[in-house]
Amino acid sequence: MRAWDHPEVGSPGLSRVVCQESGDTLALALVVRTILVTGSSGLVGSEVCLYFAQEGYSVHGLDNNQRRVFFGPAGDTRWNQQRLQREVRGFAHHELDVRDRAGLLELVRSLQPALIVHAAAQPSHDRSAAIPFDDFDTNAAGTLNVLEAARQACPESPFVHMSTNKVYGDGPNRVPLTEKETRWDYADPAFDHGILETFPLDQCLHTVFGASKVAADLMVQEYGRYFGMPTCCLRGGCLTGPGHSGVELHGFLSYLVKCNVEGAEYRVFGYKGKQVRDNLHSHDVARFIEEFAKSPRGGEVYNLGGGKANSCSVLEACRIIEEVTGRPQRFTYVAENRRGDHICYYSDLRKARAHYPAWDVSITLGETIRQIAESWTAKSTS
Ligand SMILES: NC(=O)c1ccc[n+]([C@@H]2O[C@H](COP(=O)([O-])OP(=O)(O)OC[C@H]3O[C@@H](n4cnc5c(N)ncnc54)[C@H](O)[C@@H]3O)[C@@H](O)[C@H]2O)c1
Repeated sequence: MRAWDHPEVGSPGLSRVVCQESGDTLALALVVRTILVTGSSGLVGSEVCLYFAQEGYSVHGLDNNQRRVFFGPAGDTRWNQQRLQREVRGFAHHELDVRDRAGLLELVRSLQPALIVHAAAQPSHDRSAAIPFDDFDTNAAGTLNVLEAARQACPESPFVHMSTNKVYGDGPNRVPLTEKETRWDYADPAFDHGILETFPLDQCLHTVFGASKVAADLMVQEYGRYFGMPTCCLRGGCLTGPGHSGVELHGFLSYLVKCNVEGAEYRVFGYKGKQVRDNLHSHDVARFIEEFAKSPRGGEVYNLGGGKANSCSVLEACRIIEEVTGRPQRFTYVAENRRGDHICYYSDLRKARAHYPAWDVSITLGETIRQIAESWTAKSTS
């Protein structure tokens, strides 16, 4: 058999097949592709690690548990790192800070990854005002460090950056809204499908976090356009799932379910609890990344959330959680809204679907909440 006839040639886990003939014997050495995931102990990072391990990749994760520094013990992500070390055969954890420029370059040079997913970040807009240097150094400079290491070591490898819908600042709040019984919604039919990637970024309030993510997002686009690298920014809506270490300042749905399971009180900030988020299970984020990696483009941006079908207001989320767990959701209402918070946001997914027709949202909001509840229940009884 010739090497290129081997049934596994071209399968996603293999970067090449080397063939040596000796007499009648044909030996095949299969070289496995490597993925490097920053923020691997976090929600998105851990899901990407699990997903690509199943696709046959050799998985390298980078994380320094900075989430615990940002949010205290409740934000600790070591449990997730340990889960990956248990469940992913050959998983390699790198205890490294994305602010460590030299360390990153050395790591990326040594791994030569076939795919990089950058999910390490200070992810909270509320937290960012108290730690502007940590926020900017991690989100903006950290992203540049990962990008530049990739450019020097593996410029052909697809580079996926986890951006956010907060790059649009509070601009979406200017879209005319209609108030419904349990939620706000867009009154302008131009937004029937949600917010598009062409929505303006400037002349609005972003918070320090939103601004540092804009810097990162533009830099990732620039490395695509200026240097011709296959980069993309995924502007996440509310990304969620059982792998989140939800805290009050970040991970709304995870934290809301946690409060329900533990009988704790959740604080709803402003907008009558009718503010709308679109929720996407992190498994569907990983599936999108796979599609991009198979057929990458350069300097692209995609709004990636649950879309209109998986959107809910805080009030509606409480009701669904109560149905799932059978427990009452306790909450108090704080009249003042969070600064920069979106009143109504759901992603227009038409561009993501058009560029990658094999991808769509596959996990419903109800199923996502069920999985999160199951995970918090297991943690609270262990
Ligand atoms: N979860 C969401 O709702 C959401 C929405 C939009 C965008 N995003 C973006 O997706 C990405 C991942 O979000 P997430 O929810 O998985 O966050 P997360 O906090 O669960 O995970 C981030 C991980 O990065 C690590 N980290 C932070 N700073 C680091 C540093 N300096 N060096 C090394 N590791 C560091 C943390 O310890 C954590 O484990 C972020 O860029 C975030 O802005 C998330």
